[in-house]
This record gives sequence, structure tokens and C-alpha cells, in this order.
Amino acid sequence: MGRVEGKVAFITGAARGQGRSHAVRLAEEGADIIAVDICHDLPTNDYPLASPDDLQETVQLVEKAGRRIVAVEADVRDRASLTGALAQGIAELGKLDVVVAQAGIMPLGGEPAMQAWTDVVDTNLLGVINAIHASIPHLTEGGSVIATGSAAAFMVGIQLASPGDNPGGAGYAYAKRALSEFVHELARNLAPRMIRANVVHPTNCNTPMLNSDPMYKAFRPDLPNPTREDALLAFPSQNAMPIP
Ligand SMILES: NC(=O)c1ccc[n+]([C@@H]2O[C@H](COP(=O)([O-])OP(=O)(O)OC[C@H]3O[C@@H](n4cnc5c(N)ncnc54)[C@H](O)[C@@H]3O)[C@@H](O)[C@H]2O)c1
Repeated sequence: MGRVEGKVAFITGAARGQGRSHAVRLAEEGADIIAVDICHDLPTNDYPLASPDDLQETVQLVEKAGRRIVAVEADVRDRASLTGALAQGIAELGKLDVVVAQAGIMPLGGEPAMQAWTDVVDTNLLGVINAIHASIPHLTEGGSVIATGSAAAFMVGIQLASPGDNPGGAGYAYAKRALSEFVHELARNLAPRMIRANVVHPTNCNTPMLNSDPMYKAFRPDLPNPTREDALLAFPSQNAMPIP
């Protein structure tokens, strides 16, 4: 018997990367999945986001693991879309037990600069709150809310260095810090209802967000056109453990 046998998990940003990995792992452990992803690019985000084909691949992988999945193209910045996707998922799968609110962007050096700030705060902070708030009415005793933060939440340097230079990058760190405080406060209020809320702060993860030109340039500002191999040498610099 799987660790989440018979549960239903709602995952944002599920078309690829960590979101897909969570969907497949939860399915392997017995959960049905409600998956959403924007499935198109944003002009301020200088690497591609997921495609409709990516979301279909997640569907196939979850089904291959023997579980059901309802996949909907939805933007986490739009609460009404998330409410609709959840209603569709719950109509088919019966209930909601787990929320994994983790869709995110990293518009490093994005232009127009303040639009990059708006997009990253709207996606990585408001988008997570939207997913959680849309879910709360459906969660009951034993439920679990998981938000994905980032080790960037601890990097005050991003905020202090060169004010106004890179609002997309600064907004990323700000969104993750603010998200942490939100989840801590949420956890205090959900706990008496026997519902958990946790925020997880990954370091570098081997996904398209990290494996992108803007990220290679951020880690290797000394090179004009850094590659993944160049960046791999610098990736451990932000980690307490020497792992890229
Ligand atoms: N990759 C890393 O090194 C790293 C490190 C720390 C934290 N994180 C965080 O992990 C989470 C997952 O990122 P990932 O590494 O899997 O990157 P990723 O780019 O592969 O996946 C992010 C997913 O979110 C989706 N998405 C983006 N904006 C959306 C929106 N408005 N509505 C719905 N979906 C949207 C994308 O299409 C994509 O499928 C993010 O919150 C990210 O900030 C990543």
C-alpha cells in the first residue's frame, strides 16, 4: 500500500520539472492528481515555460503509474481559473487531500524590468496563495499544504545588491521570503483543524528553470556565453553542501 493511497493531490506547475516529479511520485504512492500548468511562455521570462505537450506527458506518466489525473491549462495568477480547475478535478476524483503549490518563474534580468517584478511576484507569491486559498474550502482533517519556496529566500544579498538593477531576480527572492512568512502563519491557523502547511526551500534542482541561459549567465558573469558545463562549476557556490 502506498503512502498516500486513495488521496487526491492538486499540483500547480505540474507539466514538467519538480511539479511533474511530484505528480509521478505521488501517483506511484497511490494518489490521484489534479494538475495545472500555464503551458505558454511569458515575455519577461527569458527561457521557455512548459508546453501543452509537456502537460500531456505528465498525464501519461501518472496514468502509467496506475492512477487517474485531471489536467487543466490554467494560470496561477488567475484565482478563478484555479477554482474552476479544482472544481473539475474534484467532480471527477471526489475530494482534495494534498496541495502542492509550486508553479514558479525566474525572470532574471527580464524586460521591461518592472514587468518582470510584477510577473514574478504575481506568479511565485500571489499564484501560490491563489492555489492554496482556492483549495482551503475543500481541505479536511488530515489534509496537507506544501508550498515550494527556495534557498533564495535566505539570500538577502539579492535584495541589497544594486537596487533596481534586476527587479526580476530581486522579486524572486522577495516572493519566496514573503511566501515563507505566509505559510508559517497559515500553518498556525490550520493546525487546530488538523491540516498541515509546510514550505520547502530547495537548493538547485536539475530542471529547465536552472538549466537555462539566464541562470548560466547569473552564475558565470565572467563569461560572455556560458554553457551548462561552465555553470556546473559555479552552482555549488550558493549551497552549504558542495553539490551543484
Ligand atoms: N530549479 C531550481 O533550481 C529551483 C530551486 C529552488 C526553488 N525552485 C522552485 O521550484 C518550483 C518548481 O520549479 P522547477 O525547478 O520545476 O522549474 P520549471 O521551470 O521546470 O517548472 C515550473 C513550472 O511552472 C509552470 N508555471 C510558470 N508560471 C505559471 C503560471 N503562472 N501558472 C501555472 N503554471 C506556471 C511552468 O510552465 C513550469 O511547468 C518553482 O517554484 C521554483 O521557484 C526551483
